[in-house]
Amino acid sequence: MKTYKIAAIPADGIGPEVIAAGLQALEALARRDGGFELDVTEFDWGSERYKRTGALMPEDGKEQLKNFDAIFFGAVGAPDVPDHVTLWGLRLPICQGFDQYANVRPTRILPGITSPLAGVGPDDLDWVIVRENSEGEYSGVGGRAHRGQAEEVATEVSIFTRVGVERIMRYAFKLAQSRPRKFLTVVTKSNAQRHGMVMWDEIAAEVAKDFPDVTWDKMLVDAMTVRMVKDPASLDTIVATNLHADILSDLAGALAGSLGVAPTGNIDPERRNPSMFEPIHGSAFDITGKGIANPVATFWTASQMLEHLGEMDAAKRLMRAVDKVCSDGVLTPDVGGTATTKDVTEAVCQAIRGEN
Ligand code: NAI
Ligand code: MG
Repeated sequence: MKTYKIAAIPADGIGPEVIAAGLQALEALARRDGGFELDVTEFDWGSERYKRTGALMPEDGKEQLKNFDAIFFGAVGAPDVPDHVTLWGLRLPICQGFDQYANVRPTRILPGITSPLAGVGPDDLDWVIVRENSEGEYSGVGGRAHRGQAEEVATEVSIFTRVGVERIMRYAFKLAQSRPRKFLTVVTKSNAQRHGMVMWDEIAAEVAKDFPDVTWDKMLVDAMTVRMVKDPASLDTIVATNLHADILSDLAGALAGSLGVAPTGNIDPERRNPSMFEPIHGSAFDITGKGIANPVATFWTASQMLEHLGEMDAAKRLMRAVDKVCSDGVLTPDVGGTATTKDVTEAVCQAIRGEN
C-alpha cells in the first residue's frame, strides 16, 4: 500500500476550518479506496506564530517541507497584520522557493449552484486558468526610496524571462491538448506593455508550433473580462501572467457561484519539489469561526492533489461526491444554502462511502 506524506498548513481565519474538512474527506477516501494511506503532519505556521515569534514560518521551513509528497494549504492573512507581510511571509516563499511555477485553477459551475450570469449553466462554463506563478508582476523586484518625503518613490518591476514564459506556455499548451476541445486562449496586454508582454506573445506563437493540434487565440486582458462574462462557452484553457490570472481567476470563481468553490494547485511540473494545493479564497475574517465556510474549494483542491499523486480513481470519486452533494442542495450560505461546513463535509464523506 502506498503512503503519501502530506504537510497540512491550515494557517489563518477559515483556513483551519476548511483544511479540517478537507482532511476528513481525504481520510474517508483512503479508507474507502484501501489502496493508499495518508500520513498527515500539521504545521502551526501563520499569523499567530508571527505575532508570537516575528516570523510566519521557521527559517528552515522549506527544509521541513522538502520531503513531503504534497502540501495542503488553507489561507493566510489576519486583520491586524499587513497583507504583504503575511503573503510574502508564508505562501509566496513556498510557491517561489519550490519553483511551483504552474498555478492551475479549474472552474466550472457545479450542479445545483447558480451562476450570477443569467442563463449560464454547467455546460456553458468549463475552464482551466493557468497562472504563471514564479515571476512577472509578483517577482518582488523593486524598492522604495525617500520614505515619507515629498519626493518618495516606489518601483514594482515586472520580470519576464524566456525560460519562465516558455515553460508556462508549454504547460498550458500541453494541458489544452489533454482536454477535449484542445483550445487555448493566451491572455496578454501587449498593446500597452510593449516589452515583456510582446515577448510573451512571441514565445506563445513559438511554442504553439509544437502543438499543431491545439487551436489558440489571443486576448487583451481587459477584453478578456468582457468575454468571460458575455461568452463563457467560447473559452476552455486559459494562460495568463501572475497578476492577470490572479484577477481573472477571482472573476472566474465568482462567475461559477462563489470564491468558496474555487480551487488551485501550485504545481512543480518537473516534480523536483512538493506541489501545494489550496482553495483560492483568503482567510475570510467576516465568517471565521461561524462554521459556515464553504469547504467545496478545499475538496476540489484535495482532488487536484490526489490527481497529482496519481490517485485518479480517488480524485474522481471525490469530485463525484462533491457534485452529488451540491446537486442535492446541501449548500453553504455563500452559494445560497443554509448548510454548515460540517453538514457539507458529512454529506460528502457519506457520498464517498456510498451511503447516500
Ligand atoms: P477572502 O477570499 O478571504 O474573502 C472574500 C469574500 O469571500 C468574503 O466575503 C468571504 O466571506 C467570502 N469567502 C471566501 N472564502 C469563502 C468560503 N470558503 N466560504 C464562504 N465564503 C467565502 O478575501 P479578502 O477578504 O480580500 O481577504 C481576507 C484576507 O485573506 C486578507 O488578509 C488577504 O490578504 C488574505 N488572502 C489570502 C489568500 C491566500 O492565503 N491564498 C488569498 C486571498 C486573500
Ligand atoms: Mg488572488
